Amino acid sequence: MHAKALDNLEAIDQGSNPACLLCHTTGFGQEGGFVSRNTTNALAGVGCETCHGPSRDHVENVADAALRPPVNISSDICSQCHNPFHHALFGEWQATLHAVVTEHVAEELVAGEAATSCGTCHSGDVRQRRFVQNEAVPDNMLEGRDIAQLNAIECATCHDPHARTNRAFLPPEGHDFQLRYAEVVPFPTASNVVSETTDPARFNLCGQCHHDRGTTWVSGSRPSHHSIQSNFYVGEMPLPPDGSVLVPNQRTVHAFAPKQCVTCHMQREVEEDVVSAIHANHGFAVQDFTGCSSIGCHPTPEGAQADMAALQAEVQAGLDAIAARLGDPATWEYTSAGGPDAAGQAAIPDVVKQVRFMYYWVLNDGSLGVHNPEYARSILTQAGILLTSTGK
Ligand code: HEC
Ligand code: HEC
Ligand code: HEC
Ligand code: HEC
Ligand code: HEC
Ligand code: HEC
Ligand code: HEC
Repeated sequence: MHAKALDNLEAIDQGSNPACLLCHTTGFGQEGGFVSRNTTNALAGVGCETCHGPSRDHVENVADAALRPPVNISSDICSQCHNPFHHALFGEWQATLHAVVTEHVAEELVAGEAATSCGTCHSGDVRQRRFVQNEAVPDNMLEGRDIAQLNAIECATCHDPHARTNRAFLPPEGHDFQLRYAEVVPFPTASNVVSETTDPARFNLCGQCHHDRGTTWVSGSRPSHHSIQSNFYVGEMPLPPDGSVLVPNQRTVHAFAPKQCVTCHMQREVEEDVVSAIHANHGFAVQDFTGCSSIGCHPTPEGAQADMAALQAEVQAGLDAIAARLGDPATWEYTSAGGPDAAGQAAIPDVVKQVRFMYYWVLNDGSLGVHNPEYARSILTQAGILLTSTGK
């Protein structure tokens, strides 16, 4: 798409409009940059040097490693052009939690820890080395880095700047979106086996990171991570080996959202700038409900929003009721959340451990039931039944 950026201007007769060439060619207006098709055709389109910087010295002396152009995955590179001239893509992304490495994780990374564990989902630098360059990552990969220079979930973490990948779900004619992973995967069959609930290969682009980390109800230190959305959407939860099923697995009614996560979290916006009509919101928040009514499930966007509010209130009330019945947190909570220490955890009855796991499975999904309404209801109902069996 970058290589063809000038062709698209020419197709609408804007191929020599200086106001457009700035972002649709390489180095327009700069010394040695694009001037015209006749004189500098090699610099037509968004070429290598727009992102890698001037590289003549390298070309003249390819053997000298010191002259190799830098590789930088920071979104700042993309913001030169993907800025509000057409759409505020960069600004939208920058306001989200994807734009910063989570505070606690960042501290561990620069201290020389956690690159292989936490970094796999929280660090764009780790993902670049591990999944793009396909190199082994040492745990201390980011030791000593400037914390402000760490890369999080950057544009280039989700997009391949170099190539079409054919991984978008039915993109409009002429587009590709250059996604690194499939936007939509065939809906996975639910599984309770830890090696599967934690396996990114089962999930779509978002599910590369938004999946379970393998904690089961036998753990006492902390609940499931906040990243379990893909599993909740599929309607599954991890079980300890030979543990019996706590709640039957249940495929979400939202399995048919055409673009899966993207349907609700990256709504297309209709904008006045018709030369570049595509704009999927990169704020990742659910803020537009037109997609919910587009395939006739909720009759109107307003109705969809009201349905959501009612469901979330119901699920929140269910969670509050479970917490109230569990009673004093000092008697049942995880160690990390103010509960007993490891020795005290051993004394908590299994049924209570199962109930608190189910409670957090619903809570830490973060959608208050929207990802899989019937599954959320079943979990809350089953947790209530288990509590009754203990007399609480
Ligand atoms: C010099 C300006 C410039 C820079 C820098 C730039 N882009 Fe682009 N990008 C464009 C233009 C112009 C297009 C549209 C090409 C077309 O459709 O004619 C585009 C298209 C794209 C597309 C394809 C969209 C589609 O509709 O299929 C993606 C994805 C993309 N850019 C991502 C990036 C990323 C990631 C970076 C940073 C690593 C980046 N771009 C840096 C100008 C730029
Ligand atoms: C600040 C940088 C910038 C400038 C200036 C700019 N563009 Fe773009 N243009 C982009 C980027 C980035 C894309 C691709 C992503 C997008 O649409 O946001 C793009 C995409 C396009 C597309 C492809 C639209 C599509 O959906 O297939 C057209 C056509 C286009 N621009 C026309 C123009 C015209 C005409 C001008 C001058 C009036 C212009 N652009 C000026 C950055 C720019
Ligand atoms: C839109 C921005 C952009 C453009 C244009 C671009 N690159 Fe890149 N390039 C990147 C980013 C970001 C990375 C790191 C992510 C990746 O490897 O995909 C990268 C990585 C690379 C790497 C891998 C380096 C390594 O250490 O593994 C090479 C080689 C490279 N680019 C060469 C090129 C060449 C040659 C061109 C022109 C044909 C080009 N790039 C055009 C942004 C760009
Ligand atoms: C499987 C991918 C993955 C791994 C591995 C992972 N995280 Fe996360 N983490 C996420 C996602 C996704 C979110 C955001 C979920 C949300 O916003 O609802 C998140 C959120 C967080 C948060 C903010 C929410 C909170 O709990 O307060 C913290 C802190 C955090 N992670 C710390 C860590 C640490 C520390 C590690 C390593 C021990 C780690 N994460 C490993 C994917 C992961
Ligand atoms: C490379 C890993 C990764 C990928 C891919 C990813 N996320 Fe995230 N996401 C995270 C992490 C890490 C956080 C949490 C950061 C924190 O809490 O500090 C997060 C947070 C979020 C949040 C809550 C934060 C906010 O600012 O609203 C939403 C919503 C979200 N992601 C949606 C998505 C969607 C939708 C996709 C797919 C289009 C996606 N994510 C792809 C890692 C990822
Ligand atoms: C049917 C629409 C829909 C689908 C499909 C969907 N989500 Fe959500 N998601 C929501 C809603 C609604 C919320 C709650 C947002 C709110 O209350 O503001 C939410 C919440 C979240 C949150 C927590 C946000 C936060 O602020 O912590 C994350 C992360 C998230 N979704 C990621 C995903 C991922 C990943 C997928 C795909 C596996 C997905 N969602 C699929 C509608 C959807
Ligand atoms: C968490 C993953 C993720 C991140 C981070 C991300 N994108 Fe995207 N982007 C997507 C997905 C998914 C689509 C396709 C949406 C659709 O199908 O409608 C998309 C679409 C696009 C498009 C197509 C045109 C449009 O306006 O929607 C462009 C251009 C683009 N992204 C550029 C960027 C840039 C620039 C950044 C960084 C500021 C960025 N993306 C960050 C996932 C991501």
